[in-house]
Amino acid sequence: MSKQYKRTLITAALPYANGPVHIGHLAGVYVPADIYARYLRLRGKDVLFIGGSDEHGIPITIKARSEGVTPQHIVDRYHSLIKKSFEEFGITFDIYSRTTSEIHRKTASDFFRTLYDRGEFTEQESEQYYDEEARQFLADRYITGTCPHCGNGRAYGDQCEQCGTSLSPSDLLHPTSTLSGSKPVMRKTRHWYLPLDRHEPWLRRWILEEHREWKVNVYGQCKSWLDLGLQPRAVSRDLDWGVPVPVEGAAGKALYVWFDAPIGYISNTRELLPDDWEKWWKDKETRLIHFIGKDNIVFHCIMFPAMLKAEGSYILPENVPANEFLNLENDKISTSRNWAVWLHEYLEEFPGKQDVLRYVLTANAPETKDNDFTWKDFQARNNNELVAVLGNFVNRALVLTQKYFDNKVPAPGVPTEYDREMMAEAGKVKAAVEYSLENFHFREAQREAMNLARIGNKYLADTEPWKSAKTDMARTGTILHLALQITAGLSIVIEPFLPFSAAGIRRFLNTGRLKWDDLGSFRLLPEGHALGKAELLFEKMEDDLIGKQVQKLLDTKRANEANECRVKPVKESVRLDTFEKLDIRVGTVLECEKVAGSDKLLRFFLDDGLKKRTILSGIAAHCPDPGELVGRQVCFIANLEPRKMRGLLSEGMILSAENTDGSFALLSPSREVLPGSPVV
Ligand code: 2FM
Ligand code: ZN
Repeated sequence: MSKQYKRTLITAALPYANGPVHIGHLAGVYVPADIYARYLRLRGKDVLFIGGSDEHGIPITIKARSEGVTPQHIVDRYHSLIKKSFEEFGITFDIYSRTTSEIHRKTASDFFRTLYDRGEFTEQESEQYYDEEARQFLADRYITGTCPHCGNGRAYGDQCEQCGTSLSPSDLLHPTSTLSGSKPVMRKTRHWYLPLDRHEPWLRRWILEEHREWKVNVYGQCKSWLDLGLQPRAVSRDLDWGVPVPVEGAAGKALYVWFDAPIGYISNTRELLPDDWEKWWKDKETRLIHFIGKDNIVFHCIMFPAMLKAEGSYILPENVPANEFLNLENDKISTSRNWAVWLHEYLEEFPGKQDVLRYVLTANAPETKDNDFTWKDFQARNNNELVAVLGNFVNRALVLTQKYFDNKVPAPGVPTEYDREMMAEAGKVKAAVEYSLENFHFREAQREAMNLARIGNKYLADTEPWKSAKTDMARTGTILHLALQITAGLSIVIEPFLPFSAAGIRRFLNTGRLKWDDLGSFRLLPEGHALGKAELLFEKMEDDLIGKQVQKLLDTKRANEANECRVKPVKESVRLDTFEKLDIRVGTVLECEKVAGSDKLLRFFLDDGLKKRTILSGIAAHCPDPGELVGRQVCFIANLEPRKMRGLLSEGMILSAENTDGSFALLSPSREVLPGSPVV
């Protein structure tokens, strides 16, 4: 028998305020968290749902540098945008605040100080890259260099995005600071560490023995970390953006973002309930649930619990139902590659269709493995499930009542045996949804909720009230009475998943909010109750609407590909004496024409200062008027072995630059020089 709690504190990962939020965020964290919060509230439970923006960390300082503005400027912009997107999608946070708030700074700072005073940290000296020109230590992302695994010349200090390998800055060949472009040097620095190794024994017991019920993906990831053995983790950084380390002699040091961000949950609770927050965080009767994505598991299951335990007065999370990742059209969602469906754009392009996205993201939620969002699936689920099942049933029940009973709930009459079977079937939906929600199986829960509409549709199809209306109005009345009760039940059961549609049904039925415990009852609407005006809950989506979205992604892909091929990785290094073997010179073009029978080749006849020579070059497509090049000076490799092409001997190679769009530009000296001048 699981423990009964007085209240539930729900947190949803604080997104970095360095960009807008996308469908991956919604599917992985915010929709499930909101479904859970709405469900518990409907059941009359005491619930608090905490959200906010994570406004510290390197991604934000990088974005600020790239735009030439302050980090505060960036977080102000994105905090508002993210907050608005969540509001418009009906994510019912009790508070959505931010980690640059004063109360957060104080809460995080005091938390650190308490642990520091208790000797819960260790201090260690380490060597880190330092940029002598910019006069600062470099975060891993601020260092680029050559990946030792694949040769990518633009790998970062924490990862090579070309081959996906995790790196540390010292792995990089030819490291360069992105701040000044200079070569960084190693310099000693001191930091505070949370000795996770000391916490390992109780963490093993707590997770591996006492929380076997956690989701397999969460439990499995924790077990791997624990089995590898925990290491002390630095909780400070040499950085001026963040909560300053509240210790003497720590000038220029800030709390590590993963130390301060989870404390944001506490700060935001304090901000909302200045006099009452402690019972939510310190009373054993509170059940704490963290909704996060899989990349946050170690921080919420190991690091934050270790911090809470070290502080001593806080409760620990009861569950951390982390999701895997959502991909988009078979590719990883990526902010930098603009491979995402951004929520603020969706809201503009699909106004009023928040529930459709909520529905599809839950139906396809990456609960146990990564999943894929495709626009075709979005369209199919809208048309075949929301329109054809839910919308269709609700609309038929309402329109038939309007037609035959003057828009008033007809008398119940006497239900038949078949009616009773249907009622029994409908009565099972409540328990099925509850079971799934309580076990964090949101896809299954939504499927069960939709079953109520399926039951209703089948009932109308089997009983055909439009036929009985010709002969037996009492029977027709019973059928529609029951169909309207199912419709009222739907307004309850879909509320956690599709809150806008639930409100729509309440409006059509001209009824207020009903309680979860009323679900399954067939006495929700009394005989004679006047209904409101019926409208369509969902609309069919045509191919052209969906096609536009697919095209938008194709355009993005094309732009990315053009971008990716723009700068190719630097080739393997060569020694100077190898390079010096190449004889590059300037020549003057005497003749230039297309080679007969070839679309690609141009024949250049050059004055190379010593003699005249012929060079064939495959750039005909980029020189529509070769005659124009006569008199121009070009650079060429003079000592490339001559080779025959199309019966002509080519003595060298003309040098050109390949542009991003695949076009070529000839290389010429910036002023005229004597033919034969070497390029040095
Ligand atoms: O992964 C992220 O987007 C982090 N900003 C999540 C932080 S969750 C919590 F700790 F605040
Ligand atoms: Zn690599």
